[in-house]
Amino acid sequence: MQNINITLNGKVTAVAPEITILEAARQQGIDLPTLCHHPDQRVKANCRICVVEVEGVKNLVPSCSTRVTAGMNITTNSPRVRETVRTILELIFADHPQECLTCIRNGNCELRQIAAKFGVRDIQGEKRKHSFSQDFSTPSLVRNPDKCIKCGRCAEACHYIQNVGILYSHNRSTEISISPEYGKQLADVACVLCGQCALVCPVGAIHERDDTDRVWEALADPQKHVVVQVAPAVRVSLAEEFGFPSGEIATGKLVSALRSLGFDRVFDTDFSADLTIIEEGHELLDRIANGGVLPMITSCSPGWIKYMEHYYPELIPHLSTCKSPQQMFGALAKTYYAQTSGLEAKDIIVVSVMPCTAKKFEAERPEMDASGSQDVDIVLTTRELGRMLQHEGIDFRMLPEAEFDSPLGISTGAAAIFGATGGVMEAALRTVYEVVTGKTLTDLNFTTVRGMTGVKEASVDLAGMEVKAGIAHGLANAKKILEMIKAGQSDYTFIEIMCCPGGCIGGGGQPYGTTNEIRARRIEALYQVDENMPLRKSHENPAVQELYQDFLLEPLGELSHRLLHTQYCSRS
Ligand code: SF4
Ligand code: SF4
Ligand code: SF4
Ligand code: FES
Repeated sequence: MQNINITLNGKVTAVAPEITILEAARQQGIDLPTLCHHPDQRVKANCRICVVEVEGVKNLVPSCSTRVTAGMNITTNSPRVRETVRTILELIFADHPQECLTCIRNGNCELRQIAAKFGVRDIQGEKRKHSFSQDFSTPSLVRNPDKCIKCGRCAEACHYIQNVGILYSHNRSTEISISPEYGKQLADVACVLCGQCALVCPVGAIHERDDTDRVWEALADPQKHVVVQVAPAVRVSLAEEFGFPSGEIATGKLVSALRSLGFDRVFDTDFSADLTIIEEGHELLDRIANGGVLPMITSCSPGWIKYMEHYYPELIPHLSTCKSPQQMFGALAKTYYAQTSGLEAKDIIVVSVMPCTAKKFEAERPEMDASGSQDVDIVLTTRELGRMLQHEGIDFRMLPEAEFDSPLGISTGAAAIFGATGGVMEAALRTVYEVVTGKTLTDLNFTTVRGMTGVKEASVDLAGMEVKAGIAHGLANAKKILEMIKAGQSDYTFIEIMCCPGGCIGGGGQPYGTTNEIRARRIEALYQVDENMPLRKSHENPAVQELYQDFLLEPLGELSHRLLHTQYCSRS
C-alpha cells in the first residue's frame, strides 16, 4: 500500500497507512511514554499514558491504539498532553507504595523512568492506605500486588503467549486487581513458573525470587568450594544489562566477571548440554529400536515439564527421561568432579546462572538429589547476576576475555545452540546422524529447524530411516503439537519443545525489555558462537568422552540412569 502523509508536531511526514500513531512517532524518533503497550502483545489501551492530540478530535486519543489516517495532524508535546500524562502519573503514584529506593526495579522501572521524564515531583491527593500481602509461595517468583499498576501485560503473556491463563483481571474501576483466581497464591494454581509475566511487567509487581544474598553468603564461606555453571543463553544477553546492544556475545567477559565475584571454578552448562545430547540421542535410538513410546519429546525446559505435568499428564510417557543440562551438571559436580578434585560433595556449592525462573523450581524438585543432597544449590537468573556485578562495581566493558575451567567447562557448538528454539533438535540430529549412519555429516546446519516460526518441522534420512522432527516454542505453540498427538494425528518421531518464546534466549529471567526482535538477535548470536567453535558435534566433546571412559562407562548405563535421568509426576 502507498504511504500517506501525516503531520507530526508540525512536520509533514510519509508513513505506512496501517500503523498506529505510536509507531509513526517512534519511527520519527519521538519516544512517547507507554505502560500497557508491549510490541509483542495485542493492544490493550487501558493506561492512557500514551495520549496525544489529534486536530479536529475533542478528546486526547491513545496513540497505541489509534491508527494514522491521511492528513492527520498530531501533536505529542502540547501543554495539554503533558498535563494529562502528569495527572495520570500522579494518580498512579497516589495508589502506589513509595518504595523506590528499596524496590527490586530501582534502576529499571518503566513507571519511574516515565515519571522522571515528565518531572513528577509531588504526589497529589490522598495516598493509598491499604496493602495486599505479597506472594512468596514459589521458589521462582514473587508477586507484590501493591505495586501493580494494572497494565494487563502479565495476563496477556500468560493467556496468549503461554496459553496457561492463570492471571485474571478482577473487579472494576479503582478496585481492579490482577491475580490468580479467588486471590490464590501462585503455588496453589497451575502456574508453570515460566516468568514470562515478570519479563513484561513494567514495575516491581511480579519478579524473580532474589537469591543473590544466598550466593554472597556462599562466596564468603571459606569452608565451601563454590562452583558456577552458566547456561548457553546467558552469554548472548548479559551484556544488555550493561548497555551493550542485544546479541552481543560476551562469553569471555562473563567468565572474567564470575571469577571477579570469587567463584572457585567457572564452568559451563554447555558441557552438560553436550552430555544431554549423548544421553537423549541414545534414548531416542533405543525407543525406535525397541518399540518405546514415540514421539519422544525433549525434557530440558522445566516450565515445559511443569506444563505437561499439570495439563497433559497422560502424555508424560512421551517425555525423554533425561534431566536438563542444569541438573545433569549439578549431579556430576557433586560426584564426578568431587571425586576427581579430592573434594567432598558436602563442601561443594553449585550455583547456576540461568535465563529462566522455572529453573529455580526445578533445582528444588525433591527428586533432583542424585548426589545425595540437592544437586544444584542456588539458581540465579541473568538479571540477578547483572545486579550482583553492578553491586560489586565491576566495569563489564573493561573486563578481559577469559576461558571456562576444565573439565566441566569444555563444550562444542552444538551445546551453544541449546539456547535457541530448534537448537536442541539440531544438536541431536548432528549426533544421531553420525551414530546411526557411521558417516561424517558434511553440512552441520539444519536450517529448517531454525527461526522464530512457532511450529517448525524437519525430516532427516538416517540410512533409510526417516526421522520426522517437530519443534515448538512458547506453550501456546506447544499445545498445538500436543493436541495433534492426542488426536493421533502426529507422525513425528522426535519433538523439541521449549517453554519460552524463542527458546531459553527468551526466558523469564532474561534482561527486561526483551522483545521478539531482540530474541531473534540473541539467536543469531548463538549460531555465531556455534560457527566459531572448533568442535560442533556433542559426541566430539573430549571432556564428555573422558567422562564416559572414566566414570559413566556408557550412555544409558546404570550410573547414567542414576545421575542423569529422572521421572515426572502428574499435577493435574
Ligand atoms: S515499582 Fe517502580 S515506582 Fe514502584 S516502588 Fe518500584 S521502582 Fe518505585
Ligand atoms: S509464570 Fe508463566 S504460567 Fe505463571 S503466571 Fe506467569 S506467565 Fe503465567
Ligand atoms: S503485575 Fe505487572 S504486568 Fe501485571 S498488571 Fe500488574 S503491573 Fe502490569
Ligand atoms: S500505552 Fe497506550 S493506552 Fe497504555
